[in-house]
Amino acid sequence: MYRSIKAAPGSSPGSTPASAKPADALVLLMPAGTKPADAPACPEPDALARLLKQADFTLKPEQARTLYHATGRPARTLVVGLGERAQVTADTLRRAAARAARALESARIGSARFQTVNLPDELDAHAVGRSLADGITLANFHFDAYLGKARKPEKKKGDKPIGLKVTLADKPTRAGFVEGLKVAEGVTTARTLACTPPNVANPKHIAGYCRKLAKATGLKCTVIDAKRAKELKMGGLLAVGAGGSTPPCMVILEHAPAGKAKRKPLLLVGKGVTFDTGGYSLKPDGGKGMKYDKCGAMNVIGAMHAIANLKLKQRVVGVIGLAENMIDREAYRVDDILTFCNGVTCEVTNTDAEGRLVLADCLAYGTKTYKPAAVIDFATLTGGVVVALGKKIAGVWATDETLLGKVKAAGQTVGEPVWQLPLDDDYRKMMQAKHADLHNSAPVREAHATQGAAFLSYFVGTDAPKQIPTTPWVHVDIAGTSNTEGDVLMEKGPTGFGVRLATELAATL
Ligand code: BES
Ligand code: MN
Ligand code: ZN
Repeated sequence: MYRSIKAAPGSSPGSTPASAKPADALVLLMPAGTKPADAPACPEPDALARLLKQADFTLKPEQARTLYHATGRPARTLVVGLGERAQVTADTLRRAAARAARALESARIGSARFQTVNLPDELDAHAVGRSLADGITLANFHFDAYLGKARKPEKKKGDKPIGLKVTLADKPTRAGFVEGLKVAEGVTTARTLACTPPNVANPKHIAGYCRKLAKATGLKCTVIDAKRAKELKMGGLLAVGAGGSTPPCMVILEHAPAGKAKRKPLLLVGKGVTFDTGGYSLKPDGGKGMKYDKCGAMNVIGAMHAIANLKLKQRVVGVIGLAENMIDREAYRVDDILTFCNGVTCEVTNTDAEGRLVLADCLAYGTKTYKPAAVIDFATLTGGVVVALGKKIAGVWATDETLLGKVKAAGQTVGEPVWQLPLDDDYRKMMQAKHADLHNSAPVREAHATQGAAFLSYFVGTDAPKQIPTTPWVHVDIAGTSNTEGDVLMEKGPTGFGVRLATELAATL
């Protein structure tokens, strides 16, 4: 793992000051059919010509080879394939850059010039730089903070961790790259917190982390502790966290650019269940992997970090609900009736449908307090969305077509795709109970993921309890996309899905 990734000063080799050292390696990213003549920057044209003649090296996506001189000595040039030219997208580049970063790191190379060759015209230089930064930084993430005596690598003399300096062909590519590095810090924040185990990353720990992050980045941080939550009648947040090892709380992070205080903000809301056992509706396996049930909130923290880094003009407020869903004498039970801070009541039919109870108070409080222009919530809400869409695409439900279009476009740009599922009055009715306004889980399993969205719709803005909200709102269910089994882009574990989407949305809203 590289200790740091940086853009090298200067731009093209021609324009770098004569005193600057040339990069240790050259990475050529090229689509199928590229000829050596298309890559005049390659200092080893003969070696490149020989490589491109090899029958098994067709520049298929993510094929990567080092060039060798005729003498058999490796030239410090890495050629990475992009596949069919017409099909090269930002995602192809992200993955190719990730492949290259892995190869450079294992060869312990400290500086590299990245050169794309023969790309389709639709990919502008800024987008290319951004994709390279995304790919390199996403691939460079590893979580080894908890390796101990048995497996922590011994520190050998001279075995210093190295960083990677990346030289790029031109100014716009470099600008895109530098932007990508700023966003990447937020993604790393989210992934690191998500990996942190539940015996450490409890609600109290995460609130403390937010305070420190705010201080370091210029965000404003407010913590609504359990005592204040009681005063505010946040019955959902308090019930879910009642059995937890530390009390539940709500954290608000604000990015308030100078002169924009009166603008209606973008509100980002996140589910932060630091561990989900299911409560008395106990999960059969005790909740293996459910440390990731806080990913919605961690991704909102990461997005706020990125937004502060980028100094975006848009006013953005992040609200996260933190609670640990455990079994305890104090824990909430099935049949309990709860009252949320907007006065809506709910009969608990399943303590494992806890995320919506936490989010209900966050959405109601956030929309009432900040009167946002738009609301996006991120939550690992339902197993149903994993069944419907798998682990690549997140499910979205929306009350506003314009906002939905922007969310889809942002997701497309950054490689975090979403797919719309329906929300209407019939689905809202499905969530109504006999002895309270709502139940948190309908007696039928049909439209499972949509039940979650329909439940949340009762809390978005002051008109929400009586009708489909008029506040523009998109609910993003990331139960499938929040973590991955691992591929070239990201190792097994949390993906930070939503950090790049929310940041892109805030930048383009
Ligand atoms: N945290 C889970 C959803 C989840 C499932 C996330 C799988 C990641 C992977 C959520 O709290 C939950 O338990 N949902 C239940 C709801 C049901 C009890 C109404 C579900 O989806 O089965
Ligand atoms: Mn649950
Ligand atoms: Zn959950």
